[in-house]
Amino acid sequence: MTPTELAALHEAYASDPHAFWLDQARRLDWERFPERSGDFSFDRADFHIRWYEDGVLNLSVNCLDRHLPQRADDTALVFEPDEPGAGRSVTYAELYADTCRFAHLLKERGVGKGDRVMIYMPMIPEAAAAMLACARIGAVHSVVFGGFSPESLAGRIDDCGARVVITADEGVRGGKRIPLKANVDAACDLSQGIDTVIVVTRTGGDIAMREGRDLRWEDHQDRLANDCPAEPMAAEDPLFILYTSGSTGKPKGVVHTTGGYAVWAATTFAWVFEPKPDDLFWCTADIGWITGHSYTLYGPLMAGTPTVMFDGVPTYPDASRLWETIDRLGVTILYTAPTAIRALMREGDEPVRKHNRQSLRLLGTVGEPINPEAWRWYHDVVGDGRLAIVDTWWQTETGGVLMTPLPGATSMKPGSACQPLPGIEPLLVDAEGREITGNDVSGNLCLRGSWPGQMRTVWGDPQRFIDTYFTTYPGLYFTGDGCRRDEDGDYWITGRVDDVINVSGHRIGTAEVESALVAHPLVAEAAVVAAPHDLKGQGIHAFVTLNAGEQGGDHIVRELHAEVRKHIGALAIPERIQFAPGLPKTRSGKIMRRILRKIAEGQLDQLGDTSTLADPGVVDALVRNR
Ligand code: PRX
Repeated sequence: MTPTELAALHEAYASDPHAFWLDQARRLDWERFPERSGDFSFDRADFHIRWYEDGVLNLSVNCLDRHLPQRADDTALVFEPDEPGAGRSVTYAELYADTCRFAHLLKERGVGKGDRVMIYMPMIPEAAAAMLACARIGAVHSVVFGGFSPESLAGRIDDCGARVVITADEGVRGGKRIPLKANVDAACDLSQGIDTVIVVTRTGGDIAMREGRDLRWEDHQDRLANDCPAEPMAAEDPLFILYTSGSTGKPKGVVHTTGGYAVWAATTFAWVFEPKPDDLFWCTADIGWITGHSYTLYGPLMAGTPTVMFDGVPTYPDASRLWETIDRLGVTILYTAPTAIRALMREGDEPVRKHNRQSLRLLGTVGEPINPEAWRWYHDVVGDGRLAIVDTWWQTETGGVLMTPLPGATSMKPGSACQPLPGIEPLLVDAEGREITGNDVSGNLCLRGSWPGQMRTVWGDPQRFIDTYFTTYPGLYFTGDGCRRDEDGDYWITGRVDDVINVSGHRIGTAEVESALVAHPLVAEAAVVAAPHDLKGQGIHAFVTLNAGEQGGDHIVRELHAEVRKHIGALAIPERIQFAPGLPKTRSGKIMRRILRKIAEGQLDQLGDTSTLADPGVVDALVRNR
């Protein structure tokens, strides 16, 4: 984007927000174009968020049907499996046909508008078709990342009341098989109400099939019609639920609705990546995360930009996987996470340099703050110093990117998300909720007003939505992030200020890990904090107190790992488990996490005043056992 184009967008928003937001909606095909744009109030008494309320559309039409007249045989998706080069391309016509077939199968099983469907799948083209099929018939999809345990999947099934799960026999990642169908079976035993499991064959591995409940996709695919009318959806009809960790309790079902989400995914994809006709876009995020929803699938599909679905890991079979794949497929835009960049940086420049990467024209990063060293390596080595980097800050809750430098219009700074997109109004507030004005300041990051991609509610718990995001600072959306605005007015996200840990770009709630740990019969108490980690950004440091008379040791550590794997998934296993005779508490019994954080960070000279603790002696013991 040129500076003039960007200035014109800011000016258009400032002079007439309503016209500005309707203009963005013109990127989509609507059955009925909206006359209304945003209508929202963050006041408790009259809380509501609505966008394009009178509009009618279908997202699958915007991803598929709109491309069929001119480009039916063009590539929509490039499937790149774990084994390099063993993939295939899928055209818009093919993806359309599979989407319609899935839609029919779901309908045959009684799924209709508003019903919830769980998707627990590898990154295969059928997963895209399954999501699009839900959108086509107005069912609400809830994708659960394949790394989550059966128990996590069961919790989500119960929370949203799904009746159907779509899965695969097994996943394959980094050469290892993941027993997806077996996990679904276990989840069904732990939850209520699943009457249909649709299984796509990925590996052909041995799986159990339950008569009457389980269907093989391949047994039905050929008999199902490859055409299916799209359900006309009101803009505010729910599109999907995505569960994400918060600072308290169980994961929240973040609800996104059809019109606003689609407009924001399409608009941000257009602004940030400026797609060109010969692009091949590669976002490495799994569809189990919001990045996979907005930028692996929906954003590029709406734009008609072919998108890579990568079912592997960046380090398999070796550290040049990404660069080899980029050359082989001709990828033009790479959008990945700082944790992957750091892992590959550690392998040195040679695995990168032996591939030419000439097809690349833009790099992107998302998910956590990128340290300047990793940014420079990404820029200088991966990008040969010739490519811009979009460091995009956003959240599951925001639906799409909110802050990023825009190539051509914004100058980049290593580690800074720089500036808000047009229509987005960030502000920093202090602990008392007063706005901090001026530059060269730090505070808690809030947003004033709404934007189309904002989440609408927490599934089944609207009060929790208000309490979590709109109560700390009344009238504002609180992001949970700390942030600095530098002397030029550019924003630097400093990380979460709540009890959420960002491990390799994945959000883990401390409360969830703690409750998994205390599920072990020998554990009396557990407290979990973040500790800096070279590759993961943050690692999980758990302080665990065992029942009186019990001794910690490797054996218990292994059992505690198993406990976390069972209740949440391997992604939440603590980096470090430190056994402690007691935890630092105030006299009223509150655990002083601030002290635990400093111990985990090794900042032992910054423990602060410990004299108010019920038993100051426990701190010495914790420091001694570090
Ligand atoms: O702390 C911020 C961090 O990731 C959080 C959102 O996590 P999640 O909802 O899982 O969404 C991840 C993908 C959008 C934010 O609150 N975060 C995300 N992107 C960045 C970031 N921190 C710094 N820089 C970023 N570019």
